[in-house]
Amino acid sequence: MEKLIISGQRKLNGDVHISGMKNAALPILFACALNKETCVIENVPPVSDIGTTLSILADMGVEIEYRSRNTVIINAKNFASGASSDAKVRKIRASSYLLGVELGRTGSTRVAYPGGCSFGVRPLDQHLKGFEIMGAEMSGDHGGISGSAPNGLHSGKIMLDIPSVGATVNLMLAAVLTPGTTVIGNAAREPHIVDLAVFLNSCGAEVFGAGTSEIKIVGVSELHGCTHTIIPDMIEAGTYMAAVAGTGGRVNVCNVIPKHLESIIGKLREMGVDIVEGATGVTVSSTGELKSSQITTAAYPGFPTDMHPQFSVLLCSAQGMGTVTDKIWENRFAYVEELLKMGATVTRAGNTACFAGNQKLCGAAVNATDLRGGAAMVIAALMAEGETEIGNLHYIDRGYDDLIGKLSRLGADIRRVNVDEDADFNFGAIKD
Ligand code: EPU
Repeated sequence: MEKLIISGQRKLNGDVHISGMKNAALPILFACALNKETCVIENVPPVSDIGTTLSILADMGVEIEYRSRNTVIINAKNFASGASSDAKVRKIRASSYLLGVELGRTGSTRVAYPGGCSFGVRPLDQHLKGFEIMGAEMSGDHGGISGSAPNGLHSGKIMLDIPSVGATVNLMLAAVLTPGTTVIGNAAREPHIVDLAVFLNSCGAEVFGAGTSEIKIVGVSELHGCTHTIIPDMIEAGTYMAAVAGTGGRVNVCNVIPKHLESIIGKLREMGVDIVEGATGVTVSSTGELKSSQITTAAYPGFPTDMHPQFSVLLCSAQGMGTVTDKIWENRFAYVEELLKMGATVTRAGNTACFAGNQKLCGAAVNATDLRGGAAMVIAALMAEGETEIGNLHYIDRGYDDLIGKLSRLGADIRRVNVDEDADFNFGAIKD
């Protein structure tokens, strides 16, 4: 079993280059399966959720080639709808995007229930409601979801109850090749929705209004190939910004779109961190002494739920009591148990966690509980006195490209080791 070993209390200094956004690359790679021509996708982060996605698509007849570590060449002319591996689909959340792709391309779909980080129930009712308005009959059994529109999908107006990222993506994918104008109301406005629309439009689609709460998609008969560069990952950037805020130091976070970071920058400034914004980067300077804050997550442009656990760690040592209320994932608090092992004082009521503040974290043996909970443990370990050992690294591998290289170059003492914890006592080693 692999673990991260981190010796804490080193200031971070230097430059960190942010990779492409996982949550933009995932829908764009699935969207390539709507296209019979070749697409070149650049700035794809080599993280395990992307590896799983490419492997699912390859099993379905999609030709995939790498031009470099970050550039994928993809051709889906032989895409076999309905042929996804149940086991691989269950590994990631974004595999649900196959529903929209298959319905849009062939009028029928069958996909196992998707997996992903566990924050309690993660319903798909908004996705299914939209497909039904577009004329598909959807049904679920113990193994997965099926849908069929024998005469093909038709356009419609779908008013989402919640501005769900996944439902917005899935309905955009279903609508691109569907005749007529499909309207998605109360749509998600996240930057990755805009990136998906930019990619689709570069392939000849007609998607209007992405980034606002109403997206209109005028169906086209086919897409053509294109080259597209994935936008920088605002959550990866925010994670490094939070790390510097907690440890102290001065780091240039390079290759970002500062506009996407507005809510994160705002909170860090409120907590006493100095941030200078440039055209394609931000410089973060911190003494490590932070003021407390009250944080509530919200859909973009609000404070992102995917930054909640990382900021919780900062609130442990900040001056005064702080709170985090998660309005998107009410059960995203599994990491709190791990923080308690490092000496934090946290109480929880419903979807709010309350951090006593003014506390020194100390090294301990902890686990990543999910992707961002794992990132939070890394930040806690960087801030803590002594050595921390973090297990369950597969969660962190889902979304952070070269975490160890990037943090080491900033001066962190971090290494990944193999620990054979499960080895039984070796009687053979005893000599008579
Ligand atoms: N929801 C419903 N019904 C639906 C869909 C969503 O009730 O049909 C609810 C969810 O239960 C949740 C809220 O709506 O309370 C938002 O869910 P959303 O659909 O927006 O989330 P998602 O598409 O499943 C994506 C990201 C998550 C990120 C959320 C919110 C991907 C692959 N995943 O999930 O990213 O937390 O949006 O921004 O894009 C991560 O990267 O660590 C991660 C978990």
